[in-house]
Amino acid sequence: MKVIAIANQKGGVGKTTTAVNLAAGLALAGYSVCLVDCDPQANATTSVFDREKLENTLAEVVIPEWHYQGKNRNANFVPIESVVYETQLPNLDLIPASIKLAQFDQQPVTVIDRLVKAIQRVASDYDLVILDTPPNLGFLFTAALKSASYVLIPIAAQYLPLEGVSDLLFSLRDLGEIDILGSLVTRFDTRTTLGKDAREKIERDPVLGPRCFATVIGENTKIAEAPAFHVPVYLYQPLTPGVSRAIQQFDELTLEVLERLKLPNKRSKILKGVK
Ligand SMILES: Nc1ncnc2c1ncn2[C@@H]1O[C@H](COP(=O)(O)OP(=O)(O)OP(=O)(O)O)[C@@H](O)[C@H]1O
Ligand SMILES: [Mg+2]
Repeated sequence: MKVIAIANQKGGVGKTTTAVNLAAGLALAGYSVCLVDCDPQANATTSVFDREKLENTLAEVVIPEWHYQGKNRNANFVPIESVVYETQLPNLDLIPASIKLAQFDQQPVTVIDRLVKAIQRVASDYDLVILDTPPNLGFLFTAALKSASYVLIPIAAQYLPLEGVSDLLFSLRDLGEIDILGSLVTRFDTRTTLGKDAREKIERDPVLGPRCFATVIGENTKIAEAPAFHVPVYLYQPLTPGVSRAIQQFDELTLEVLERLKLPNKRSKILKGVK
């Protein structure tokens, strides 16, 4: 079992998109995968699941529901096993988030340990766990990173791509034992010099440059559309050239991730998404 956090405190850089589609790619590569949404925005949740069909979420696992009996106050928590939902993709389960998770940062600091233990418990049921994290360095970020043995850092090939990355690396060093699995250039637009300049800047960075994945995720409207249908891009229909291109990029990323984790691609053929 390996736990990978997708993190960058900068907003809108493609964390959720990467978490969802990498999780799907790994599931299609033959691994049992759990996608854990650690962000109160719940974007990863709605990207693979219809929110209307949810009962409890990660919030009820870690934030107490208080019950009063006379003068006694008892904290109730839901077990993490009861908030595991199957997605439309075989091998891919989801532990969803909800806006209630925003209360996480107002809890006593012990809430971090509660989340770490819950993730560790559920992780033992899977080959791989992918954690989507929020765009800040708060308690949820800390808990997610403490639960993970690897971090993957998506960086958008846009204006000031590396803004805040030094704070992120500093926080990671503070958290101790965590390997940077790689940095991933996302939202790359071949048509703009801004995109090309940003990509070059990322690749020249002394820490993240050498760890950059060869795969680059291009700016692609199909990638932005798929979440509206609660599916990873692999299941997005119809299979237009734009969808195929996105699938190919996430397949390439999946293979690179497996290689860095020293895990085989268990599918007999090279990944090509699902038809
Ligand atoms: N490669 C891409 N091409 C086009 N749109 C993209 C791409 N990647 C992400 N997007 C879109 O950009 C927006 C931000 O992406 P995403 O939600 O993955 O970023 P994030 O880092 O998780 O954001 P946040 O920090 O708010 O959690 C979303 O609307 C998403 O659909
Ligand atoms: Mg997100």
